[in-house]
Amino acid sequence: MPRPIIIDCDPGHDDAIAILLALAHPEELEIRGITTVGGNQILDKITDNALKVLSFVNADIPVAKGAAGPLFGKLVTGEEAHGESGMDGPVLPASKFKPVEQGAVEFMLGLIRASEEPVTLVPLAPLTNIALLITAYPEVKNKIKEISLMGGGLAYGNVTSTAEFNIFVDPEAARIVYESGIPIVMSGLDVTDKAAIFEEEILELKQKGPVSVMVGELLDFYSIYGKKMGYVGNALHDPCAVAWLVHPELFQSEHLYVTVETEGKLTRGMTVADRRKKPDRQPNVQVLTGVDREAFMKLLFDSLERLDRKLSAAAGVNN
Ligand code: RIB
Ligand code: CA
Repeated sequence: MPRPIIIDCDPGHDDAIAILLALAHPEELEIRGITTVGGNQILDKITDNALKVLSFVNADIPVAKGAAGPLFGKLVTGEEAHGESGMDGPVLPASKFKPVEQGAVEFMLGLIRASEEPVTLVPLAPLTNIALLITAYPEVKNKIKEISLMGGGLAYGNVTSTAEFNIFVDPEAARIVYESGIPIVMSGLDVTDKAAIFEEEILELKQKGPVSVMVGELLDFYSIYGKKMGYVGNALHDPCAVAWLVHPELFQSEHLYVTVETEGKLTRGMTVADRRKKPDRQPNVQVLTGVDREAFMKLLFDSLERLDRKLSAAAGVNN
């Protein structure tokens, strides 16, 4: 039986790839819904991008708009990395889908309450929606199996020396989620920077079917900022949080107590782990620390190829 999931995202090049990775595994993952949050770009652009990705592969999955910005302060976008549209690069056709009327929090609440089994949340963006949900409806925590998120980093950040973007944008929300008691699997920079795709692999993608080509073109754009920041290869951050759900054996991890700094001048938005032999509190997070990069890339390529075949078959039927 596939595990029911809700993806909370801010597409975002790597969010788009993570959504496609999930769509390629209907036997393991049933995407009950997708929610959007201000992050890489403003909410309307993020939501439009999510709808365009779904429309590109004919995936009619309900999408609900969430918080436009963090619990406190103004939204800091990731425009430098993701561009003016939030997903610059290929121009995707206008989506044939529209968002649902409901807001993301009520939408998630309804999906979780209606589910026969506990739901897994897959946040790939600032954690504002998740924090609002569990604060407004704490009882819903009993029907959340776990949270597989992209965010944070124990060794370093990417917005500041200590804070990773998704946590940096809304540290208060992140602290609420990390201290919620819900089991967390954290794909932080410790692992996502190791899940990097290289230029020759992007070129290979662009020789394949329409979905693979689209992803290759997204990565051409997304690589620009990485190169500018001195990285070799393009870290596939958000796809790690989905890949763990379908192939956890690709990853190494440590169980640690992790919380979020919200005050520090230098450390606001830092995910802080207690690595002492006798930590103050019981571990609450499975921190992914390593990945078999070759196997991860094969998983990505095979997944995109599945979507290519599905799209070609559907086109064949319609011709
Ligand atoms: O730091 C990486 C994270 O920030 C990813 O979720 C990416 O989409 C951006 O939102
Ligand atoms: Ca994201």
